[in-house]
Amino acid sequence: MLAIIGGSGLTQLSNLDVSHRQVARTPYGEPSGALTFGRICGQEVIFLARHGYGHTIPPHLVNYRANIWALKEYGATHIVSVASVGGIRDDLNPGDIVIPHQIIDYTWGRKSTYFDGNGTPVVHVDFTEPYDAKLRQRLIDAARHAGIEVKDGGVYGATQGPRLETAAEICRYDREGVHVVGMTGMPEAVLARELEIPYAAINLVANHAAGRGESARGIHFERLEETLQAAMGRVRTVIEHLVGCYACAD
Ligand code: HPA
Repeated sequence: MLAIIGGSGLTQLSNLDVSHRQVARTPYGEPSGALTFGRICGQEVIFLARHGYGHTIPPHLVNYRANIWALKEYGATHIVSVASVGGIRDDLNPGDIVIPHQIIDYTWGRKSTYFDGNGTPVVHVDFTEPYDAKLRQRLIDAARHAGIEVKDGGVYGATQGPRLETAAEICRYDREGVHVVGMTGMPEAVLARELEIPYAAINLVANHAAGRGESARGIHFERLEETLQAAMGRVRTVIEHLVGCYACAD
């Protein structure tokens, strides 16, 4: 069963025919909210709002371990993460959708492993390719099928937040090869890898990153919200096509 973790701008899936909600408890505490079960065009999916349904949990306080654990416990076999990002590269504009292929992790102090001692053997997971190649390709194919343009590949820089970056930090990330910045991509991706759940991401560019383009003098939050609202419909369509809605759309 596909699980979708929604970020800012996607606290609910309007195309989800909800069947029930499940409060989950895990050895790592409580997830961001109840898991929402339902169907998209007849296919069962689970939805979880990363920041809580009232959008009250900031990126550095999300219980990523509980979220991924709960999704696995309740039957998720694949996870698609939806997250808004700031675009660094010149060819990335607000409203663009990126399917990233790499990550640089700048976060700190987050609980980022299930293998944290307590007498258990140390485990080092392979993370050369942080996103699942097949699931990424399925997302790209779904978007193409839906006639929605997405950028195939991008380096996601995971920043600590909750503040946005300085212009100098963005210059540094740019030099280091980062294409988009967001605050929630890690440790979510590695925790899914530790539990062996294929994981891929849909990044929606909400704004030019600090100091770039329209954000040369600052980031305009009203515009960011408008961009997210306007673009989320395309993200939902990609998800519909991913879960196999081609048949019901025809
Ligand atoms: N930086 C970090 N995270 C973000 C941004 C940004 O500019 N926009 C949306 N999420």
